Amino acid sequence: MTLSTLLEMEYPIIQAPMAGVTTPEFVVSSAEAGILGSIGAGYLSAEETRQFIREVKERTHKHFAVNLFVPEPIGMTQLYLREAYEALQPIGKQLGMPYWKAPLSKSEFDKQVQVVVDEGVKVCSFTFGLPDDKAVRLLKENNVYLIGTATTVEEAKLAEQAGMDAVVAQGSEAGGHRGSFAEELTLIPRNKLLEEVVTSIQIPVIAAGGIATKEMLASALAAGAHAVQIGTALLAADESGAHAVYKEAILNVDEGCTAVTKAFSGKTARGIRNQFMMDMNDAVIAPYPYQHDLTKEIRKAAAQQGKSEFMSLWAGESVHLTTDGSLKDIIKQLI
Ligand SMILES: Cc1cc2nc3c(=O)[nH]c(=O)nc-3n(C[C@H](O)[C@H](O)[C@H](O)COP(=O)(O)O)c2cc1C
Repeated sequence: MTLSTLLEMEYPIIQAPMAGVTTPEFVVSSAEAGILGSIGAGYLSAEETRQFIREVKERTHKHFAVNLFVPEPIGMTQLYLREAYEALQPIGKQLGMPYWKAPLSKSEFDKQVQVVVDEGVKVCSFTFGLPDDKAVRLLKENNVYLIGTATTVEEAKLAEQAGMDAVVAQGSEAGGHRGSFAEELTLIPRNKLLEEVVTSIQIPVIAAGGIATKEMLASALAAGAHAVQIGTALLAADESGAHAVYKEAILNVDEGCTAVTKAFSGKTARGIRNQFMMDMNDAVIAPYPYQHDLTKEIRKAAAQQGKSEFMSLWAGESVHLTTDGSLKDIIKQLI
């Protein structure tokens, strides 16, 4: 059985989970358009994840995925955290905030896994790492299809060994955070990564990173991908939860406008190059998720003030090809 048949997709396309962007409407519209919708639940609490799933279930009978961030243990001193906060203060001041509160977040990963099971979700995908044996066992006992994320061949092999049913091979072109977890950061382009991964593992491979046209989709399938995962090309859709200023930036950029940075969250991610990235180039940056917590109020104030230069404008290398309109129409152009 193909991955598409198994996941009841009309087309071999997965709407990329995009935490903070994927609204219930976005996921439902994706599912109704014949692709696999995914809830980006990475920043949600277990209870918020449950509510989100219920909203989607009320509006579609199609399968959809829930995507979770796998937490990793982090050592962090108060002193380092303070230095990272102080490094952000010049930017805070430009937004009229010399000081701001930055409560530290706590992952509810295990509880989210339980919610996925309780709510009868059929597909669960992961990034930033792999779930432990206990979580894999629980999900598999409940017939949940598991998808890992890999940015290298080594990570793809680890995903297969951990019991994932499929793996997303995330090329360096991809928008948003790198899913890297096992090695030093490597930026391998999609085609090269795909070629290496499909010959190294037995489970289905899903190609991701910079896919924005029919031709790119077809070439990924021809190179052995069972499906593709698309994020940036859907970002400016009517149903997307991206802020209006963010959408405007996406629709008005030229090729070559993106860069990778750790400055917003402490984890490497690709977005439209802006002043925040430049200002923070040599600054002290706390590890993920603490840097993300420290910059939360900055990002919020920047959005409220319409200052895209201080917002995290996550986008992949094909962002100049992104169009607006309804998800249905954007997806139609891809098939
Ligand atoms: C705004 C944005 C947010 C993202 N958030 C997530 C996420 O929460 N979980 C995840 O696994 N991947 C996330 N990604 C990465 C996507 O899963 C995927 O790898 C990427 O979108 C593919 O490249 P493309 O954006 O060029 O299509 C995000 C990507 C973007 C653009």
